[in-house]
Amino acid sequence: MRVAAVGSRDLGRAAALAAELGAPAAYGSYAELCADPSVDAVYVATPHAQHLEVAAAAIAAGKAVLCEKPLAATVADAELMVKLAREAGVFLMEAMWMRFNPLIRMLAADPRFGEIRSVHASFGFTAPYDPAHRLWAPELGGGALLDLGIYPFGLAQLLLGMPAEMRVTGSLAPSGVDAEAAGVLAYPGGRWALVETSLRGDYPNRASVVGTHLRADIEAPFWAPERMVLSGPGLERPEEHVLDPADNGYAGELREVRDALAAGRTESAVMPLDESLAMMGLLADARRQIS
Ligand SMILES: NC(=O)c1ccc[n+]([C@@H]2O[C@H](COP(=O)([O-])OP(=O)(O)OC[C@H]3O[C@@H](n4cnc5c(N)ncnc54)[C@H](OP(=O)(O)O)[C@@H]3O)[C@@H](O)[C@H]2O)c1
Repeated sequence: MRVAAVGSRDLGRAAALAAELGAPAAYGSYAELCADPSVDAVYVATPHAQHLEVAAAAIAAGKAVLCEKPLAATVADAELMVKLAREAGVFLMEAMWMRFNPLIRMLAADPRFGEIRSVHASFGFTAPYDPAHRLWAPELGGGALLDLGIYPFGLAQLLLGMPAEMRVTGSLAPSGVDAEAAGVLAYPGGRWALVETSLRGDYPNRASVVGTHLRADIEAPFWAPERMVLSGPGLERPEEHVLDPADNGYAGELREVRDALAAGRTESAVMPLDESLAMMGLLADARRQIS
């Protein structure tokens, strides 16, 4: 795997990053980037509301797409992106790096939990209010839910699936985007998740997962953890799991794209498109409840 080219709205910025990364080509438009035959896959890292435009151009050019989270700023944009990729037979995956963290993967696959009864998770920090910044700007897909909330809601989705019911409270910023949200998600059998997200306060940013036999305490930042402790009635003594920082980060999702292309797969089983779409719908519902 290597960085073949960098695209930007500005050639100077593209050239500067290409030089930093040792990439042989730089382009001042995404159309030129997508026309480069040496490019196999495009990593889309523009603000949410600009994901669809770049991803659609890459898909039309037959390039695989790794698109930053959330897949898009709206459910309709996300659905269109998935439709375009499926119709073209081109690989598409949301770059949800949390799912590729080795500790999160270990947790999701550990049968010793018994039945997972609840998930608690928060992601919030104090972001100075600036209506021009993408976090606060509606036209750039701003708001806590899409940017940060996708991790606590996403951990619940990974471990418990989609809720049967959801109650959300929160507040809006003067620009109209959601500034904070807390949700209770209810699942069949009386299981639940408690999730919080905020641009208006520093949260613990930890998570805990309680099963009938085991509990996991995942240290901050729980979406890219390097330490997790398992305890509970299923263990004689707490079990500590520490990740080498070199194994944290974006490498896992990049390997997923490489392996999928080598195997001719157009979707990932670790981050399936249907689950990305379901999350878009869930976050839109959460947003509606605090409007
Ligand atoms: N996985 C993670 O850990 C992680 C972390 C942070 C962000 N993200 C996701 O990555 C995406 C980008 O976030 P960011 O914080 O990097 O955003 P950003 O710095 O505001 O924007 C990233 C780049 O997108 C281009 N851009 C900005 N506004 C644009 C517009 N209106 N139209 C087209 N291109 C535009 C800019 O490049 P040029 O000016 O050079 O064109 C900019 O450098 C978001 O979807 C976010 O959720 C993921």
